[in-house]
Amino acid sequence: MADLFFSRKIEEFNLINKTIFVQTLLTESVSEAAAFLLKGELVAFPTETVYGLGAIYSNDSAIQKIYQAKGRPADNPLILHVSKAEQLKQFVGEINLDAKILIEHFWPGPLSIVFKKHSDFDFALNTIAIRMPAHPVALALINEVGPVFAPSANLSGKPSSTHYRHVMNDFDGKIPCILKGEVVKGLESTVVDCSGETTKILRLGSLTVEEIQDLLPNIECAESSNPELPLSPGMKYKHYAPAANVHLLSASSREFLPQSAFIGFKSPSDNFATVKLVASVEEYAANLFSFFRECDELGVKNIFCESPPSKGIGRALLERIKKACSKK
Ligand code: TXA
Ligand code: MG
Repeated sequence: MADLFFSRKIEEFNLINKTIFVQTLLTESVSEAAAFLLKGELVAFPTETVYGLGAIYSNDSAIQKIYQAKGRPADNPLILHVSKAEQLKQFVGEINLDAKILIEHFWPGPLSIVFKKHSDFDFALNTIAIRMPAHPVALALINEVGPVFAPSANLSGKPSSTHYRHVMNDFDGKIPCILKGEVVKGLESTVVDCSGETTKILRLGSLTVEEIQDLLPNIECAESSNPELPLSPGMKYKHYAPAANVHLLSASSREFLPQSAFIGFKSPSDNFATVKLVASVEEYAANLFSFFRECDELGVKNIFCESPPSKGIGRALLERIKKACSKK
């Protein structure tokens, strides 16, 4: 592994007269990144939602490296990323009508679909989550190497990475390569379960509930009454929490603690040390995770988040903020 790493001076990190040496290769070359994947190594790559940490689907030891690098619990399954619909055949046992409608309208896009898995495909669960990202770099990479398993490219429990710098912070020296590219949405994909009798939304995400309901009016957001039996294995783990305490700002909030930060549409006070103003709920979603990371770097103790409207992408955004507030 060591021979894959080499120290190099990176222009982008030469900030404020401070040169930072990084061990992981940063590249814009898809074929350079593809070569690492084909050798069984991990590559972080951009998607339209967040950065993914990829391994070739057919290489078990490469997949194990994902769990090791992230500190991810072994029972939390990964999403398989494909670039063409015909790649599904090998992995999926049945594509029901709802899944066909969703694929037709939303792929490529920020939607992961849970299918019954193909009986010949060796996998820990009876179901498999698959998505086709709408990102030219991700699609080009998958076209070169075939389907790729990838969780979000963050250490377990940290906010998902929306910039290659976040990936660097979490994985420098632990993975050999980061493929650079722009993330657009800033929140993860919506996960929809099409493996059973009823189609359900398991995780809110960048594809809105309203967009899905336009096609499948009866779809519901699944809620498990028993936290020991979550619908999606990932739901039982701590998520999206920065080191700072996160508060949802209410209309009655008046007292702001020292060393506080604010993110939202309009700051209610001049007293915040760090402020991020956004012009739209989409911009809010795109900036939340990077703001959390920035606040951690600055040693901010409390982050106040203006409540976004609970509709469209705002619904997923609000859910992420609430999770960060509860640190669960
Ligand atoms: O936008 C995204 O979805 C990003 C990019 C990289 O594609 N990926 C991502 O992966 O957020 P991850 O691993 O951080 O979250 C995947 C979620 C987890 O909550 C996991 O438990 C759930 O999807 N999941 C994966 N396979 C599943 C399955 N077969 N059944 C139910 N839930 C599943
Ligand atoms: Mg994740």
